[in-house]
Amino acid sequence: MMKFDRAGYLQTISHMRLDSGNTLRDLRDSLGLSQAKLAEASGIPQYILSGFELGKNELADAHQQALLAVLRNSEGLRAIVARKKRYREHTYVEVKHDSKRVARHAPSNGNEAYLSALKMLETKPKRYSHRAISLFSGCGGFTLGFASAGFEIRGFLEKEKDLQVIYQKNFPEAVKIGGDIAAVPTSDIEDIKRSTGEVEVIIGGPPCQGFSLAGKRDVNDPRNALFRHYLRFVDVYRPKVAILENVRLLTSMRSPDGNYVKNQIRSEFGDHGYSARMFEINAKNFGVPQHRERVFFIAVREDINKAPSFPTASHGEEVGLFSEKLPCLTFADACSDLAYIESGEGSGDPLHVSVSHPKHVIDWLWDVKEGFSAHDNADPAKRPPSGYNTTYKRQIWREPASTVQTTFGMISGCRNVHPIATRSLTIREAARIQSFPDSFRFEGSAGTIRTGIGNAVPPLLARVVAQHLIAEFL
Ligand SMILES: C[S@@+](CC[C@H](N)C(=O)[O-])C[C@H]1O[C@@H](n2cnc3c(N)ncnc32)[C@H](O)[C@@H]1O
Repeated sequence: MMKFDRAGYLQTISHMRLDSGNTLRDLRDSLGLSQAKLAEASGIPQYILSGFELGKNELADAHQQALLAVLRNSEGLRAIVARKKRYREHTYVEVKHDSKRVARHAPSNGNEAYLSALKMLETKPKRYSHRAISLFSGCGGFTLGFASAGFEIRGFLEKEKDLQVIYQKNFPEAVKIGGDIAAVPTSDIEDIKRSTGEVEVIIGGPPCQGFSLAGKRDVNDPRNALFRHYLRFVDVYRPKVAILENVRLLTSMRSPDGNYVKNQIRSEFGDHGYSARMFEINAKNFGVPQHRERVFFIAVREDINKAPSFPTASHGEEVGLFSEKLPCLTFADACSDLAYIESGEGSGDPLHVSVSHPKHVIDWLWDVKEGFSAHDNADPAKRPPSGYNTTYKRQIWREPASTVQTTFGMISGCRNVHPIATRSLTIREAARIQSFPDSFRFEGSAGTIRTGIGNAVPPLLARVVAQHLIAEFL
């Protein structure tokens, strides 16, 4: 982290484009300005600022302008930084279990079947039928789905040490083939390939800022876009299929030269001898109890001579007598067997433990109905002082859960409030919603675990994709 002095600060904001979340965080820290206050002053939802600082989303031009306007207004900044918090002293109280609420937490019909589906992810095939390597592995969501479908994951690459630890606990046979992908010299990739052997598939999902596809394509330039580093592995391994997962935002991202990033990705895959297609999907349509919009690029080596395709959705909203689709799974299907706990409580499961929330936040949320936010309260005294009505918002018990993000433990985050209890989601709930079986070993700090879970490809979705690749291309 870098501290700006006055001159550095003024120089940076006078000419900059905020193209790095780290710079924004460093500027804020140097000013002593909280993310919440910056969100309020700029009118940009805090989750967008948070995602940008964490490198998970880009900033729209209008948001860039709004931020720079705030950061360049030194008088205004002084006033914002000096403003006192409305709630300075937090008090914590025990929250009594309300019998009506506990009753609503009853097991749902789909819960048992869902837990059985997660069990499928635990079974390792006696013999693996196919091989893959995983790049940008995170904690291993993508890998788990592929492994359960019959892929031996020969190698993995991940920059964050704490995530490597979780990955290795769960996939001890996978060889670590690198940390920062940009630091792996192209000349080493041949040796890496010798250590893992040939693979038929490369799986991976760089963070979306890894697709800043401007400028030169010098393969040895470590500042190159992460996607181009991914292509260096594709060039050496020449797998039959290379697959990339990313956030839906990528569909609207443009490079500084004005081109859509999605078209550049397809065309660069083409330059490397692969025919690629992008598929926009929602995980809830593939048996995952979660609304999670994502894109997958499937790139098929040209000599395989088959058009890239994606599995057909198995679940949907419109179900009826003549529909072949199953109804989408719900929050209740994922979590209704878990112990009912309120703010600050634990259970027999060390990952099913609630964060303690201050009394004033519980008061705001206590009577908020499913699908509503504390910002919707009629009584202004029960509304949070600032923010948008996607924050402090309850999820809905009998609907697919909202997208699990890395911030799911923050009650002020986007749709992080449990449908019935008055608290944010526990790690176990988020893991269930993301379709990790309970046997998956999450170790390390709660922050690392939340990052791993929030960034993962849901293993059940990954399994469906893996089965499709086997059936169609391998
Ligand atoms: C979206 S997450 C991938 C999650 C993974 N697909 C899963 O299913 O669990 C992207 C990962 O890329 C890692 N990463 C970011 N920059 C990297 C780099 N330069 N080299 C290697 N890994 C990197 C991040 O630490 C993060 O874990």
